[in-house]
Amino acid sequence: MNPFTYRDNLLYAEEVSCSKLAGTYGTPCYVYSKACIQDNYQAFADALQDWPARICYAVKANSNLAILNLLAQLGAGFDVVSGGELERVIRAGGDAGKVVFSGVAKRSDEIRRALLAGIYCFNIESQEELDRIESIAKEMGIPASVSLRVNPDVDPSTHPYISTGLKDNKFGVEIDQAWELYQRIAGSSHLHAVGVDCHIGSQLLDLAPFRACFEKIFELVDRLHGQGIQLQHVDVGGGLGIPYAPADVAPGPREYAQVLSSFMQGRQLGLVVEPGRAIVGQAGLLLCRVEYLKHTSQKNFALVDAAMNDFLRPSLYSAWHEISPVCEEDGDEVLYDVVGPVCESSDWFGSQRSLRIRQGSLLAVHDAGAYGFVMASNYNSRMRPAEILVDGDQAWLIRKRESVEQLFADEIIPG
Ligand code: LLP
Repeated sequence: MNPFTYRDNLLYAEEVSCSKLAGTYGTPCYVYSKACIQDNYQAFADALQDWPARICYAVKANSNLAILNLLAQLGAGFDVVSGGELERVIRAGGDAGKVVFSGVAKRSDEIRRALLAGIYCFNIESQEELDRIESIAKEMGIPASVSLRVNPDVDPSTHPYISTGLKDNKFGVEIDQAWELYQRIAGSSHLHAVGVDCHIGSQLLDLAPFRACFEKIFELVDRLHGQGIQLQHVDVGGGLGIPYAPADVAPGPREYAQVLSSFMQGRQLGLVVEPGRAIVGQAGLLLCRVEYLKHTSQKNFALVDAAMNDFLRPSLYSAWHEISPVCEEDGDEVLYDVVGPVCESSDWFGSQRSLRIRQGSLLAVHDAGAYGFVMASNYNSRMRPAEILVDGDQAWLIRKRESVEQLFADEIIPG
């Protein structure tokens, strides 16, 4: 579903006008649609209903407590990559018993906390990590359930910064090493092998790399079963992309599940998926206001009050996001570079966008629900934006705009 629609030339989030939201909460702010998140989650649940499947939402995509609480209520498990994310899940009412702990360099304190909390399993990324988890499990007297993240050496054909399943990436253990590590786990009284895991990258618009990855992973599962190592689940990671640009064609959870079905058929095996972007990406937008329209001999700039510190994807990945006026003005369309106030030329949201706007207009940067606020910083001592969750005709402030006091609350002038 698209929860952001125009009515009488005015952009709405579900039943609430975005200009009203901007008036009440100020700009810049993130606006999320509850119904869209619910729909996207349900689409995964429906697509995977034939198997004992657990949807472990990738917390990194959007970790606001209200969003995590909503997903917990829908029955989601969670994929976390830090102690902080685990604390968020617990605080939001999530079930630690449905948590998988991914991440390539887990600290000892994070491992201890996760064992105490009783997470479902650790996704292990190296022999060294396995050794550390074993010794902590022994010391604490709490056996650790583990799953090996295997690096299948498959090219996901996505941006290089978010490709993770190639041999020269830092992630996972090589598939040839996996057998030996499972043997070690089997020989330990402090470790329990529950699954095998993979994640080849993010924003995949093509299913072929998933298929290539599943072939390797399920072949490994068969080999392990043949040797008497029975696993409870296969974790196929996240990565399903969303359409950002008009030309993007993104497969949905159903097409994704069709690829999985040929591998899952006839097996007594659980499935874990770790979607992030596909659940929250299209459910959010960033609202900002045009401060100035600046015209140079080369270009027209729309200088807005949001910046790369609020929303990093265009600067970091040259990511394309639709930008539309909350209310289209009269007059001619003009080509603008939509840029922020930060002192870097990489501070841009869109280049050469055809817009009918004037100074003071509100703009919406679309598909910003995933990897938006979570990647925000205080660069240029800018306060991080507010977050709002819309539910029908109701709007909830789910994170206040940061204040000046918060900006330097933890800083200390010595003496
Ligand atoms: N599982 C693991 C182990 C991951 O590393 C990730 C994402 C996911 C699941 C969720 O992937 P998703 O379904 O959201 O594609 N900041 C980047 C994306 C980084 C993704 C990192 N890992 C962006 O803005 O595109």
